[in-house]
Amino acid sequence: MRYFTNVNDIGDLKVALKEAFEIKKDRFQFDTLGKNKTLMMVFFNSSLRTRLSTQKAAMNLGMNVIVLDVNQGAWKLETERGVIMDGDKPEHLLEAIPVMGVYCDIIGVRSFAGLEDREYDYNETVINQFIKYSGKPVFSMEAATRHPLQSYADLITIEEYKTTERPKVVLTWAPHPRALPQAVPNSFAEWMNAADYDFVITHPRGYELDPQFVGNARVEYDQRKAFEGADFIYAKNWSAYSGDNYGKILSKDMDWTVDTEKMALTNQAYFMHCLPVRRNMIVSDDVIESERSIVIPEAANREISAQAVMKKMLLSL
Ligand code: CP
Repeated sequence: MRYFTNVNDIGDLKVALKEAFEIKKDRFQFDTLGKNKTLMMVFFNSSLRTRLSTQKAAMNLGMNVIVLDVNQGAWKLETERGVIMDGDKPEHLLEAIPVMGVYCDIIGVRSFAGLEDREYDYNETVINQFIKYSGKPVFSMEAATRHPLQSYADLITIEEYKTTERPKVVLTWAPHPRALPQAVPNSFAEWMNAADYDFVITHPRGYELDPQFVGNARVEYDQRKAFEGADFIYAKNWSAYSGDNYGKILSKDMDWTVDTEKMALTNQAYFMHCLPVRRNMIVSDDVIESERSIVIPEAANREISAQAVMKKMLLSL
């Protein structure tokens, strides 16, 4: 595998799951595969889980790890070609990327959507520049439109906890004080559609996701109706995608918070969230602390998804 930015890059999901569970049985069985190989993790945005789980996964494979926080201690980087660089950014990504490439064997990149220019975000301008100019395998640690390592971990988690072959999985919008990208819900939808679960998306009107990600999912504007009979509730906030509202907050309606009353409508559903989560905005304390909350095992599976992806990349070097 040379690049990992979306569900298609992983290939057959059944094989990807088999590989993940094989790693989970003994995560140190490939601890010499990455000997003398270096992972460079480049962060344009903050992280807790991605940073720790990906570094841990690389260590499990015997790799060396370099972490670059672009906004802390590095030169500020210009990302757009053609601009006159007379501002506060002394280095262009077009020089910085090939330089990073010479110091490592694999690059992971986190670069969120700016939420100002939909075309720029949805063209995945930053990670595509890494793919084009680094000369190295590149994987997404959450880009503008997708978070595939998270979605792969989410899929592993659902497979571990499901009790029916084709569970009902509900992605629900929930309120948040700040405008967030659509990367996690887009990506989750992409992977759930590929897994062919009974998949429902629920959100207030105006929060429709890009149709390419919605795919075959059923969209239900009544959250309570969507929750009926669900086996998994996956909560997430996102900002508007459509037209002039791109990147805007259209609602902070607290009636969309996931609470015990709504969870009671489900088939004793497990509660999932990628974290970090705003308690009592996205989800009530009671729900996230309940025995049906699987947010910690979900986060633990980030190590497994990262290791599965890097293992494939190491094997193709
Ligand atoms: N879920 C996730 O990607 O967490 P971080 O933003 O902390 O990495």
